[in-house]
Amino acid sequence: MTETRVGRSRRYLVCEPRHFAVRYAINPWMRPDTPVDVDLAQEQWQTLIRAYRAHGHTVDSVEPAPGLPDMVFAANSAVVVAGRVFGSLFHAPERRPESDHYDTWFRAAGYDVHRPESVCEGEGDLVWTGRHVLAGTGFRTTREAHREVQEFFGHPVISLTLVDPHFYHLDTALFVLDDGHDANIAYYPQAFSPGSRAVLARLYPDAVLATCDDAVAFGLNSVSDGRHVFIAPQAEALAARLGERGYVPVPVDLSEFRKAGGGIKCCTQEIRP
Ligand code: ARG
Repeated sequence: MTETRVGRSRRYLVCEPRHFAVRYAINPWMRPDTPVDVDLAQEQWQTLIRAYRAHGHTVDSVEPAPGLPDMVFAANSAVVVAGRVFGSLFHAPERRPESDHYDTWFRAAGYDVHRPESVCEGEGDLVWTGRHVLAGTGFRTTREAHREVQEFFGHPVISLTLVDPHFYHLDTALFVLDDGHDANIAYYPQAFSPGSRAVLARLYPDAVLATCDDAVAFGLNSVSDGRHVFIAPQAEALAARLGERGYVPVPVDLSEFRKAGGGIKCCTQEIRP
């Protein structure tokens, strides 16, 4: 019999794609000056926000700044655990100014923000499981930042090496299904070095494994509330597997954002009280 999953209401921080565009290439999905349909992007993004609200989640938003076409990818701005905010320091100079905008939002909302000393791209590479932080490195966030994250939160940080440039952030290759005591994850093994793959297999023997098609469709760039999984509709095999495990896939198509190498999770920062 399939287990019935219990979700939890979450608080998400997002940024409207008013100035979304592809102007530079900092990952293999981006082709500079690819035309972006901003109206379609807005529509797709609004659908995601409506889906979050319809499932009982709170959504806050940061005002988008002109000249920062990737600012819509709110996940990269910080990682927040127990109300403590570890900010970001972007790898690409083009994205560095985003941090000030997000930090300003956090401070106005009553949070202190720790500014990292080493390159660190927030929840793009730092994934809170409820027990520890899974931390990606290889393309963006550095090992030094992993150490800084561990010092800051006092939770174990498990470094994982990403090896495929298409999956340049940890959140393009892995997501947390439920962050309770029996935390579980879904991931695409081939995105990781052999050692990191072995670590994931030991820590999460029951993980849901994704196919290459799921991963290329940004199916691992999903958001789960413990029951509902907001997921790209093209990740069909993964959605079916999640269904068999008692999760409820909620398909939301953010295809326009794939032109920048982004998906659902990239657009969503979770604020954990
Ligand atoms: N164009 C952005 C970049 O390459 C996309 C960021 C996607 N965000 C994420 N959390 N994976 O930085």
